[in-house]
Amino acid sequence: MDFDHPSPDPLHEFGRWFEQASQTNLPNPNAMTLALVDPDGRPSARIVLLKGINEHGAVFFTNRAGRKGVAIEANPRAALLFHWDMLDRQVRIEGEVTALPDAESDAYFATRPRASQIGAWASRQSEPVASRVELDAAVTEVEARFADQDVPRPPYWGGYRVSLESIEFWQGHRHRLHDRVVYTRDANGKWSVQRLFP
Ligand SMILES: Cc1cc2nc3c(=O)[nH]c(=O)nc-3n(C[C@H](O)[C@H](O)[C@H](O)COP(=O)(O)O)c2cc1C
Repeated sequence: MDFDHPSPDPLHEFGRWFEQASQTNLPNPNAMTLALVDPDGRPSARIVLLKGINEHGAVFFTNRAGRKGVAIEANPRAALLFHWDMLDRQVRIEGEVTALPDAESDAYFATRPRASQIGAWASRQSEPVASRVELDAAVTEVEARFADQDVPRPPYWGGYRVSLESIEFWQGHRHRLHDRVVYTRDANGKWSVQRLFP
């Protein structure tokens, strides 16, 4: 990336970096930290997998009844962070969170392996579970419930989209003289780009 002459379109730059991260031996180049604010105002973070990105936002899927879903309900804003250590790069995205339409969540759920679909029903994500035995018993129960039929998407499971209000690209260099540019979008959707001191 040419930090003195960045592309006017941050998705163009993101696409190239993501492609390069995918060509490394990183097991999950699409893993990103998702930071939210819980209803009590405290920050919380966890890793989720990016499953799509375009001008409308960055998409991930989860159990909406879990802790992150509760946080999004109360504070529908998120920060996403990719760290591609092998490339000495990070990308920060910030924006507003909206639930994906049911049809899009259904379509993605249908592509999941059956065992993952069963797992989505068996897991009451973020709630206490007594033991592995209790978890296995929940899986067995769900397998019996959906024997010989397709597994439907649980009503509490689906995608979220984080709109792209800002995207920052960071490339590490020696002596802390890193390259940074941040793109921000105005109300009309037009991007402006600014280089930052490291
Ligand atoms: C590499 C990696 C990928 C993950 N991907 C997802 C994901 O796409 N969706 C998800 O709900 N949880 C994913 N998790 C688990 C989350 O980090 C987290 O433990 C879980 O979603 C519960 O978060 P919550 O209690 O804040 O709701 C992933 C964890 C790791 C380490």
